[in-house]
Amino acid sequence: MSDWRVPRYDYPAQFPDLDTLIPRIGDLLREGNYILGEPVTRFETDFADFLGARFAVGLNSGTDALILAMDALGIGPGDEVITVANSFHATAMSVVRVGATPVLVDCDPDTHLIDLDAAAAAVTDRTKALLVVHLFGQAVNMRAARALADRHDLLLIEDCAQAVGAYSGDRRVGSDSDAGCWSFAPSKNLAAAGDAGAVSLRAEETTQRLRLLRHFGQVAQNEHHVLGYNSRLDTMQALVLAHKLPHVDAWSRRRVAIAEAYRARLGSLPIRFQAGAGDREHVYHLFQVQTPLRDDLLAHLRADGTDAVVRYPVPMHLQPAFADLKLAAGELPVVERLARETLCLPLFPSMTDAQIDHVCTGVERFFAGSR
Ligand SMILES: Cc1ncc(COP(=O)(O)O)c(C=O)c1O
Repeated sequence: MSDWRVPRYDYPAQFPDLDTLIPRIGDLLREGNYILGEPVTRFETDFADFLGARFAVGLNSGTDALILAMDALGIGPGDEVITVANSFHATAMSVVRVGATPVLVDCDPDTHLIDLDAAAAAVTDRTKALLVVHLFGQAVNMRAARALADRHDLLLIEDCAQAVGAYSGDRRVGSDSDAGCWSFAPSKNLAAAGDAGAVSLRAEETTQRLRLLRHFGQVAQNEHHVLGYNSRLDTMQALVLAHKLPHVDAWSRRRVAIAEAYRARLGSLPIRFQAGAGDREHVYHLFQVQTPLRDDLLAHLRADGTDAVVRYPVPMHLQPAFADLKLAAGELPVVERLARETLCLPLFPSMTDAQIDHVCTGVERFFAGSR
């Protein structure tokens, strides 16, 4: 148990009806069929149905989902992939891992999501794909992203790690692109009890290639047709994920209700919120507030027992790992400003009204004292 009055997450609370899951794990342990098998296939089918996607392939992390999806789609050396600098490191790292070059663009100051005009301006004759990120749980406008991709004949890939269940228009994210890449790491809205990931797809051929890639490129025992990886969704994690999947929409509704409570209570203070979400388009993986007084607010909240956190304090393009991209401070001003001015308030489905009140009171007191 943490000592925080309001922790950042509450992983154990995400196991409703644990008594029905434990026997399934027991059966698996007794059967000894630990790699792939029926639990993985069943979760893949359930997850594709949930999304409204044609196929889903379970892998061992969100990072591998990005890497193997790009590999399966034929992205490699000489190719450029346009994506947004406002994301977790793995988004652009994966592009480098397949031998391609990430072209990082700025984000929109209101939605915090990829600036599609900047993405359009970054297209060259080497651009192979547009990789959008549904950051903090908010869906990118997929109709606009698809129009841009179609205009330039680009593959369209989604980093869906933070947005399970979110809609863009009338479709869930990850259901209608060349690849939707999912993480089920423990902090995610649909979380395994460890590492796990998946790719959702619409093309059968890419799906088959991905299934080969995740399993040593093996078509049958000792027959390796392509150079693959070892990146299968762990069978025990598939049981955990199938157990939780039916609860995701209810958890999202609670997340939205908490976000609405924050917006209602804090809306008159000198802070900004991530803007632009229509109905069902935000599943609030994280709740962002923006203020030039960010560092002081963060220290105040943490001293007050609220485990607020900054995502992401150093933008990807300014990390030493991406020095080769030669992007200097000042080149992506919106991302850099958000990195200086935003923090996340705790938000998780089992949060109590008393905890919401504690966070809000802390924010209110900070601004009362700073005036
Ligand atoms: C936006 C984003 N992309 C990719 C990843 C990578 O996922 P994983 O940690 O499962 O490798 C994460 C989460 O960690 C993420 O938040």
